[in-house]
Amino acid sequence: MNHLVSMRQVGKDDILDLIDLAEKIETGKVHPDLSGRLGALLFFEPSTRTFFSFDTAIKRLKGRSLAMSGSGTTSVKKGETLADTLMTISQYADFIVMRHKIEGAAQFASEILDIPVINAGDGTNQHPTQAMLDLYSIYKTQGTLENLKIAMIGDLRLGRTVHSLAQALTDFNPTFYFASPRHLQMPKHIKDELQNKHIKFEEIEDIKPVIPELDIMYVTRIQKERFAVLEDYEKVKNAYIIDNQMLEDVKGNFKLLHPLPRVNEIKPEVDSNPHAYYFQQAKNGVVMRQAIISKIMKLV
Ligand code: CP
Repeated sequence: MNHLVSMRQVGKDDILDLIDLAEKIETGKVHPDLSGRLGALLFFEPSTRTFFSFDTAIKRLKGRSLAMSGSGTTSVKKGETLADTLMTISQYADFIVMRHKIEGAAQFASEILDIPVINAGDGTNQHPTQAMLDLYSIYKTQGTLENLKIAMIGDLRLGRTVHSLAQALTDFNPTFYFASPRHLQMPKHIKDELQNKHIKFEEIEDIKPVIPELDIMYVTRIQKERFAVLEDYEKVKNAYIIDNQMLEDVKGNFKLLHPLPRVNEIKPEVDSNPHAYYFQQAKNGVVMRQAIISKIMKLV
């Protein structure tokens, strides 16, 4: 891997390799060393977890970071192009982690720069490092990635995390249940990809009947900021709200995941439910991002 732009470029062996490396980093079996190297965190869109976990990962690897959180204090404000901004930052840094609202922005960066680029989310398209930490979380809680029953719930059209995760799981024979408001269904190109790979999936409205069969429930936020008309958001914002009662009949191994941030789609009462795993999932992001940087920067 020279860049990490999309889960489409990450095969089954790469996924298992990264999980193995993350596990070894977490258990102290390996200590990749990023000393003397500089990672630039270029976040043109807001972030809490991805920004801070990458910063933490770089520091735990003994590297250093340059950070841009919002472009308001940079020369983007004066009209500098994305290409010129990237070319300039690449004169200072050894690799770039970038979040941008435009789909394909990370791919563009990877094509014009001669340093590695890691996609930290591009519009509604991809969030591959989130998919990798999701896979690590699933692996840690299930002991396998194979043959799992997984429900994805919420905004499946505009939510980039579910696009990357669904693609990443296609090598592991999942059964998917997709539950979303009608206008926020999983995009056709992802469903076509699943069909071509003979992956079983069902689009459902009512999640309650399938909950007792699930290994993983992956809930996402309805993304207000991506709606052009606020009224359309208001109509669907409460479509799915998970509470403790809904989880009464889940299997013992069942885990509730969410990439976060949440708004109201998981009630706070669920946080102390033993099946809730979303904050540990966020924690797993640090070691997985250490593993990704280590691979990209060829430290291991
Ligand atoms: N999961 C995720 O991408 O969270 P942030 O937007 O806070 O980075």
